Amino acid sequence: MTFEEIYKQIEGLEGENWMPSEDARVLYDIAKDIKGTIVEIGCWRGKSSKVLCLASPDSRVISIDPCEGKYTNKPNGIGSDVKPGLFKNMADTKNWEIMIMTSMQASIDWETPIDLLFVDGLHDYDNLMLDISQWVPHIKKGGYVVFHDYWDVAFKGIRKACDECGFEEPNRNNLRGGKTACGVFKI
Ligand SMILES: C[S@@+](CC[C@H](N)C(=O)[O-])C[C@H]1O[C@@H](n2cnc3c(N)ncnc32)[C@H](O)[C@@H]1O
Repeated sequence: MTFEEIYKQIEGLEGENWMPSEDARVLYDIAKDIKGTIVEIGCWRGKSSKVLCLASPDSRVISIDPCEGKYTNKPNGIGSDVKPGLFKNMADTKNWEIMIMTSMQASIDWETPIDLLFVDGLHDYDNLMLDISQWVPHIKKGGYVVFHDYWDVAFKGIRKACDECGFEEPNRNNLRGGKTACGVFKI
């Protein structure tokens, strides 16, 4: 499927769109060349999951999310049930799996090498440090990690955690030259 065909589907899905086309394109450009294992931390109603699944139909795409309707660790994070929308949006997507738990819980018994890790769970420094330490070691050499909102000044903890873990600042105009909120790193 072309990117344009996939993004048209994304626009027709239920729920907030936190996956603008420049960010979806970053995922598409990496995922389309993968036949393997893609892990996504934080799927909400599945818009990024859908991009990954359709861009990489021969991969297993595993989303990890506690599905508690909470996307920040602040008390005022939204509190609605996202599961009905998520399962409706992902209903016909055969290469998608979900682990309904936190990224920390899912990491405990994880053994499968990962080709692409998309990190879009809790956006604060402490949780980024946890996600990096628990998940990045599972990425294959030559694989990728993409941090959503890396460039968003509202989430400074993401870059701080990446800097402290030795990720060198990437080019913001990556791959297609478009401005994206994603920070992309090759392992
Ligand atoms: C910004 S949203 C993800 C957006 C999604 N990628 C999309 O394209 O719409 C953040 C997600 O992180 C999830 N989340 C919250 N705590 C989490 C945790 N401890 N581990 C993994 N995901 C978590 C939330 O449920 C929410 O779905």
